[in-house]
Amino acid sequence: MSKPIIAPSILAADFANLEREVKMINGSVANWIHVDIMDGVFVPNLSMGLPVVEAIKKHATKPLDVHLMIVNPEKYVEAFYKAGAEVISVHQEACAHLHRNIQQIKAMGIKAGVALNPHTPAASLSEIIADVDLVCVMSVNPGFGGQKFIENTYSKVKEIKQLILQKNSKAVIEIDGGVNMANARPLLDAGADVLVAGNFVFTSEHPSDTIQRLKSV
Ligand code: DX5
Ligand code: ZN
Repeated sequence: MSKPIIAPSILAADFANLEREVKMINGSVANWIHVDIMDGVFVPNLSMGLPVVEAIKKHATKPLDVHLMIVNPEKYVEAFYKAGAEVISVHQEACAHLHRNIQQIKAMGIKAGVALNPHTPAASLSEIIADVDLVCVMSVNPGFGGQKFIENTYSKVKEIKQLILQKNSKAVIEIDGGVNMANARPLLDAGADVLVAGNFVFTSEHPSDTIQRLKSV
């Protein structure tokens, strides 16, 4: 059984001690650092922008997995690439020209992901799945950390996995929102490859050990 990719979400970190938090991730068995960008329009919250991503990048030894919860992402993907992103995901619901947006990210030589809100059906990916490197399945409504995991995610992940096989796609499936020790194994069994975890990691007593537990779940 191959081990999952673990991507701690920096949104749940102590922003007054970002260097320390990034170094904790560097020293852990985490694979990526998940970075949530919110614009107050696509989602009802604001998070961080380019200068903070650049600051994270300065200390990070692991790839930055940037999740754009913003409208008109095509205006900003290049800037996030320059700030150090190695994976960029855009929301299906925010992109009228998703195919073009995905090609734009891939043309920069980095991984391109598509994120789906909980209400967006798996089948909506049928014409794009072969082009993406990652599908970010939102298991909470995007906008806030620390929300309750939506149980319907399991069946959706199974459907997306089927679609990936059917269409010969190389996409990995990432789960974002409410991930913890109770749902991690069932998510992997359903077909997930990448687990994002914010509050579960950063509110735990020993975040680095919590990352290790998720990795070997
Ligand atoms: C939610 C974000 C998530 C969030 C996950 O809008 O996309 O990445 O940081 O945090 P937890 O694991 O606390 O639900
Ligand atoms: Zn996210």
